[in-house]
Amino acid sequence: AGVRVKVPASTANLGPGFDTLGMALSLYAWIEMKPAEATNIHLYGDQMKGIPTNKNNLIYEVAQSVFREAGVSLPELEISMYSDIPLTRGLGSSASAIVGALVAANELIGSPLDQAKLFDMATALEKHPDNVGASLFGGLITAVWDGAHAEYLRIEPPADLEVLVAIPDFQLSTSKARQVLPEQVSLGDAVFNISRTSLFTAAMASGRLDLIRASMQDRLHQPFRASLVPGMERILKEATEHGALGAALSGAGPTLLALMDRRENRGAELERFLLEGLGEQGIQAQTIWLQ
Ligand code: HSE
Repeated sequence: AGVRVKVPASTANLGPGFDTLGMALSLYAWIEMKPAEATNIHLYGDQMKGIPTNKNNLIYEVAQSVFREAGVSLPELEISMYSDIPLTRGLGSSASAIVGALVAANELIGSPLDQAKLFDMATALEKHPDNVGASLFGGLITAVWDGAHAEYLRIEPPADLEVLVAIPDFQLSTSKARQVLPEQVSLGDAVFNISRTSLFTAAMASGRLDLIRASMQDRLHQPFRASLVPGMERILKEATEHGALGAALSGAGPTLLALMDRRENRGAELERFLLEGLGEQGIQAQTIWLQ
């Protein structure tokens, strides 16, 4: 008997909430796992080129860490993964693989580990709780990690919130996008981000979409990452003039994320603005509406 799990993609940071906020997106990966005579890993979908299909596969390794933690021996596995989540684009593909592997492996052995334990294990692997938290719990999460244990609160995003992503046709690794960040920030910039992250979270929790416009700017990571995604700086600044409640780099990029109030009906305008802004820089991108 095997198990099958469906895991959402995610967007991290939402602008000011660097390594803190994450939101699940309606784009999915599926993982199937069952005990086998010999390990066999099947990867389906366009996103899977170059990913190992031996015991160095991340899903296999993460599953083994669950079995070790639970004191179970299950060295040979049949694993299948299908994913619609583009790789290395800032949509949490690695987090979805980690979370899917943790949940599937745990379920396969009767769920001895609780969700909090799975969250801690996932965060330790990713080194930040935002994407894995959103993939594991769904919705919008605000999280804290002390290096060993992660705490979170899940908020249901307002029903009128729509999400548009523009996914550039190039990859950007999270480690590269973290290397450009400064070690030190000023008190002024820290306050700039804390105030906006707090307002954003409270606005989402209370359905106040009108407050998103005042709360999505960031000074901790996006200004430093702007050079990695040509066109991004202007797009983030001007998106609110083209129908967005706010716009941000999705996670470590290069995907750009725009939030919209469904009732304002400006989706086509916003989509055109994002595609043209990237296109002017010679970047081809694909847009997807998500929830
Ligand atoms: N919070 C992380 C970052 C998300 O911005 O680097 C990327 O995975």
